[in-house]
Amino acid sequence: MIPEIAGYITKREGRKFLKLSEQVDDSLITSRILRPGEQLSLYIHIPFCRSLCPFCCFNRYLFNAEKARAYFSQLRHELDIYIQRGFTFSEFYFGGGTPTIMMDELLSFIAYLKQKFPVRNISMETTPQEITPEIVKSLQTAGIKRISLGVQSFDDEMLKSMGRVLSTGTEARQKIKMTLGQFETVNVDLIFNFPFQTPEKFASDIRIFKEMGIDQVTFYPLMPSPHKKSAMERRFARVDNGREKRFYKLILSEIFDQGYQASTVWCFSKGTRMIDEYIVDYADYIGIGAGSVSLVNGIFYVNSFSLDKYADHLQNNRLPIARRRDLSEKEYFRYYLLTKLFGTRVNKEQFKQQFDTEIYNKLGMEIRLLKAVGAVTETESEIRVNRRGMYIISVMMREFFAGLNTLREISIENQI
Ligand SMILES: C[S@@+](CC[C@H](N)C(=O)[O-])C[C@H]1O[C@@H](n2cnc3c(N)ncnc32)[C@H](O)[C@@H]1O
Ligand code: SF4
Repeated sequence: MIPEIAGYITKREGRKFLKLSEQVDDSLITSRILRPGEQLSLYIHIPFCRSLCPFCCFNRYLFNAEKARAYFSQLRHELDIYIQRGFTFSEFYFGGGTPTIMMDELLSFIAYLKQKFPVRNISMETTPQEITPEIVKSLQTAGIKRISLGVQSFDDEMLKSMGRVLSTGTEARQKIKMTLGQFETVNVDLIFNFPFQTPEKFASDIRIFKEMGIDQVTFYPLMPSPHKKSAMERRFARVDNGREKRFYKLILSEIFDQGYQASTVWCFSKGTRMIDEYIVDYADYIGIGAGSVSLVNGIFYVNSFSLDKYADHLQNNRLPIARRRDLSEKEYFRYYLLTKLFGTRVNKEQFKQQFDTEIYNKLGMEIRLLKAVGAVTETESEIRVNRRGMYIISVMMREFFAGLNTLREISIENQI
């Protein structure tokens, strides 16, 4: 009951993020003086895939070489505008879509990043099918520290149900083996609570992951947008959040041996490693590319999703921002709390340094409530999500991302 209530509250809060303004003044995005030790991360979206998975809510289009080449050049233009405004970055996250889909353009873009910034870490998403020994070598030489493979499941029947008709579990294993030991971190994404997925099938996915000794796994609860949900339900069976807890319990009962620990409530790693969720580590971030979002100085910005509109903005030397929302102080701090709890802990001293006030002055009610339901444990230095709280935070995050997926669906359908 408590996870459902917490999820409901997050859904209600998250909906506010969907009330966006079309009054966009991109000149508001200026770099501010960063506090000592403060970093901004850059997310770079490559929205092309060789086939489109029916459950996926990200902004993605069928691969077309000509469009992809033009897109990489527009991406560089967008980056240049941020550079002109004084932004600098050291951590980079390529996401998609399928960022490795056009390797010559990708490598040239990475070379450009290195020319312009003190690059420390680069994380790269791709699918197992894209992996070849040559691509592994090129990514290694380009200094990629973390590679993340969208496996979804090792079970062929599940992959077929997911619409990933060209993938097989055997191929995924072969491709993972090619990457293991070649990067600081190899992550695989696995989905849980898909219609027809049984706990037994999911347990087998976790077992294969552990047997292979992979560095990191990110488990995504299925989060379809409203239309994708209806389409999946017409094709398969009900998308039932009521089944989700069983899957999540399975994760917690299986994952904590062999040295895995929680990096977020969805991501488990051997030791301390770079994770996908830049929102956990950085208060503010910039996203470039069609359909990316940014959070800067308390303002949430949404880029154009349409490839044509994205290109038009840049042709006119404007940032390709289509919508914005000015977060109230309360919304900003709640978002901050949710993302930190997603990363399993909130550091009280870090909060004080960042916002010049005690955390209880801004988030006292929320923290007391989380303590009252037994979701977090407080020490002198931090507020930590305990084992009971992990599922509560997972449900809250699922609801938050489901809201974001609704925003993506509306934006794609209206081609903003
Ligand atoms: C944007 S994809 C990029 C990875 C790569 N394109 C692939 O699919 O192999 C990142 C991850 O998001 C997850 N994902 C996509 N759509 C989702 C949805 N509707 N619900 C839950 N997870 C989803 C998948 O696990 C996927 O691997
Ligand atoms: S899940 Fe990955 S491969 Fe499938 S459509 Fe989404 S981004 Fe593309």
